[in-house]
Amino acid sequence: MSHLLEIKDLHVTYRGDEAKVYAVNGLDLTLDSGQTLGLVGETGAGKTTTALSIMRLLPERIGIIEKGQITLDGYDITQASDADMRVLRGSLVSMIFQDPMTSLNPIRRVGEQVAEVLELHQKNLSKEDIDKKVDEIFQLVGLPVERKIEYPHQFSGGMRQRIVIAIALACQPKLLLADEPTTALDVTIQAQVLDLMQELKEKLDTATILITHDLGVVAETCDQVAIMYAGEIIEIGTAEDIFEGKDHHPYTTGLFGSIPDLSKKERRLHPIEGMMPDPTNLPSGCKFHTRCPHATAICQQQEPPFIKNGTQGICCHLFADAAGNRGSQEDK
Ligand SMILES: Nc1ncnc2c1ncn2[C@@H]1O[C@H](COP(=O)(O)OP(=O)(O)OP(=O)(O)O)[C@@H](O)[C@H]1O
Ligand SMILES: [Mg+2]
Repeated sequence: MSHLLEIKDLHVTYRGDEAKVYAVNGLDLTLDSGQTLGLVGETGAGKTTTALSIMRLLPERIGIIEKGQITLDGYDITQASDADMRVLRGSLVSMIFQDPMTSLNPIRRVGEQVAEVLELHQKNLSKEDIDKKVDEIFQLVGLPVERKIEYPHQFSGGMRQRIVIAIALACQPKLLLADEPTTALDVTIQAQVLDLMQELKEKLDTATILITHDLGVVAETCDQVAIMYAGEIIEIGTAEDIFEGKDHHPYTTGLFGSIPDLSKKERRLHPIEGMMPDPTNLPSGCKFHTRCPHATAICQQQEPPFIKNGTQGICCHLFADAAGNRGSQEDK
């Protein structure tokens, strides 16, 4: 069966002021309909860049997909024309950004903004059909229909994020990219927005990539988890693998502090010693070796292989040593 989303060997750079920034460095990922993947990693790991690449919304002439393939529902995103992408965005893939105000037009009524997406993608709908659909979408995301004539500034932060979700879901995309969708919200509203996303996933079978720093949110909402470091996925697995499994990449172990122990309600990523490497000048071998307590000579010299064991994959020389009798080794 082919996957809804398949990313192979993605490399993305930014043209920085002085040097090239290596933001995504050989990322592989697959996702199926209805699945929610949590994408986790420190600031600068390349999470947003990955999402913007799928949307083909990297800053023009600055962000460049150097290599690799992104296939979404059979479409080759890296090769699609800008005109094709305008159609695919909204109908096949949508993105929710951290700050709802950046994606809302402050001078248009919120109902019109939802209607606009429908008009763009479903050209055969009459004005009445669109009005009816806008009302349905408002109800779906729990917004009072009569408020559709108001402007974004008249809503609270949580309600604005609901409007953004309404716009993102208006055409029932198969993939939703949510980049820290609740970070700007207070805790109770956060929970409501996440519950809403969960409910919508069940109703519409949307696949979601949820980018977050909050491990509690990942544990509650994601069935797959990918850990990113310096533009690569260094560990991936089911939520159970990541939260309850015994083998982990040393970076995951560092980030999670003392997993597996969900009872401690350790929600934030654990600060780990050292800094992310300079993305304009990445280290040789394993990019984590400069911070890794287990690093040996091979880690400085050779890129680690991706070791798969059941549903879990770890990119680390430590596990390559043991792979002979436990799992299978795949070339990246
Ligand atoms: N427009 C840009 N120009 C130059 N470099 C950029 C640009 N956008 C991002 N970068 C760099 O690319 C790398 C990856 O950034 P990205 O925003 O994808 O990280 P992130 O994982 O989303 O981080 P955060 O958790 O802070 O949101 C970083 O080193 C960042 O500084
Ligand atoms: Mg980001």
